[in-house]
Amino acid sequence: MSNALERLQDLEPSTQEFRDAVLAGLGQRQRTLPCKFFYDAEGSRLFDQICELPEYYPTRTELALLADRAGEIADLIGPRARLVEFGSGAGIKIRLLLKALDRPAAYVPVDISREHLMMAAADLARDFPKLQIAPICADYTKPFALPASSGLQPQTTVGFFPGSTIGNFTAVEARAFLTRARRLLGPGSSMVVGVDLHKDEKILVPAYDDAAGVTAAFNLNLLVRINRELGADFALDQFAHEARWNDALGRIEMHLVSRSDQMVHIGASCFGFRAGETIHTENSHKYTLDQFRAMAVETGYTPRAAWTDAAGLFSVHMLDA
Ligand SMILES: C[S@@+](CC[C@H](N)C(=O)[O-])C[C@H]1O[C@@H](n2cnc3c(N)ncnc32)[C@H](O)[C@@H]1O
Repeated sequence: MSNALERLQDLEPSTQEFRDAVLAGLGQRQRTLPCKFFYDAEGSRLFDQICELPEYYPTRTELALLADRAGEIADLIGPRARLVEFGSGAGIKIRLLLKALDRPAAYVPVDISREHLMMAAADLARDFPKLQIAPICADYTKPFALPASSGLQPQTTVGFFPGSTIGNFTAVEARAFLTRARRLLGPGSSMVVGVDLHKDEKILVPAYDDAAGVTAAFNLNLLVRINRELGADFALDQFAHEARWNDALGRIEMHLVSRSDQMVHIGASCFGFRAGETIHTENSHKYTLDQFRAMAVETGYTPRAAWTDAAGLFSVHMLDA
């Protein structure tokens, strides 16, 4: 392992937090489960497979956009930047920026999925041996601190939030996240955010309900995880994956639909499901360029630049704090 890879700062949510969130979500009238808990080791592996699917346009579109614009983004960022990536996953996209940047000072990947984060950080340390890498396993919706800078003294701090993961938040949650990120990164920092754009439902729905069934397996894996970690008895063949477009709220919703009237036990708690009743597991909000810019301004940023692909599928925004 490279010396430049620092020890993991481990703030992974506890099993008790997971249990509390699951019981609270399933106790609601419209049952919900927080999408952040999709990402155990298997969930992260399935997400990486989703990124390769023909229907899943966001990853390849954002990668191409970043590859095209990396030089321009690097010029705007300037030398010796410390990069903080929220929801860093497999750490593929950051490589494009790291290669284009002038002497990047440090990279702080933040992700809730601990094993996946450690593997991705080790891979990156092998490929960028001089880069200081300080991984943090944390829920970025909760407070955490950046490590005291070691290695090169950073000249600027830049947040990177690709993958349209911001779309998983409601507007209220997205504003809260952007505000918290601005405070965490500090004065003079900036944010580079990947944001998926509004488009035809015929493109959107298959992106979240692919023919090979990988997204279905990803959605159902949440029940597998609850069974394993919380001692529940969800019958996996009694729930079906569904992706639907909610036009009023401008978002794709993923649900798990109960195929029958059934009872599910989680420890001492018991939940009755009617056939057709759903558990709402994820939102993916879509934006226009102006909607996202307005949100950035409301949360204290100055939009600096925005790039889209030729087909107008996806956008990357640079915001100054
Ligand atoms: C949609 S994936 C995007 C992955 C990668 N950034 C990309 O663009 O392909 C979301 C990533 O954020 C992480 N994540 C989701 N919710 C999180 C949370 N509340 N706190 C920290 N990480 C989270 C997941 O583990 C996953 O790696």
